[in-house]
Amino acid sequence: MSHPPSRHPDERSLPAEAAGGICREITEIGDPVLHRRCQDVTEFATPELSRLIKDMFFTMHVAHGVGLAAGQVGVDLRLFVYDCPGARGERHIGHVLNPELQVTGEYAITRREGCLSVPGAARELIRPASVTVRGADWRGNPVTVSGTGLFARCLQHETDHTDGTLYVDRLTPEERGRSLAQMYDNRASVMAERAGRARSLARP
Ligand code: NI
Repeated sequence: MSHPPSRHPDERSLPAEAAGGICREITEIGDPVLHRRCQDVTEFATPELSRLIKDMFFTMHVAHGVGLAAGQVGVDLRLFVYDCPGARGERHIGHVLNPELQVTGEYAITRREGCLSVPGAARELIRPASVTVRGADWRGNPVTVSGTGLFARCLQHETDHTDGTLYVDRLTPEERGRSLAQMYDNRASVMAERAGRARSLARP
């Protein structure tokens, strides 16, 4: 999920979780890996998994993301990372493998939402205001993450990715069309900004 425009500028520092990571190419809407449920992770604590998570954190930071799923870097696994501002200025940073979502409150909130795989677009979408995600960390230990507000939206958006659902799939046909029109208008400038930021953040 992209950093919300209302919170620009994005001045977060590179998180420690991205250390040693490299920028991978972000898949875009239409790529089959984004439109099917990915595979559950069954092998934990592997060097490949450690590398993938570092690269996902780095790639997310380059693209001004608050969340990124493995399918968005072309990897067919149910896994996401997040680096998301909380309501009181705190910073939620972590990863979840094989996430399962539970709605924990009765309220829903409408906010603008965007996705790194639909570059340059953001539309208003109603989502439950508080959720809990249960899954595993990269070593296979159980993890439980709860969130409200923007972080709850992020946890839903990223769990959706692991199940092959994009936020535009939750819009009306008219709103979906508007988001795609925004993408066609803005994609080139977003991609140019990402490329410049990837160069400036890359290790020498
Ligand atoms: Ni997304």
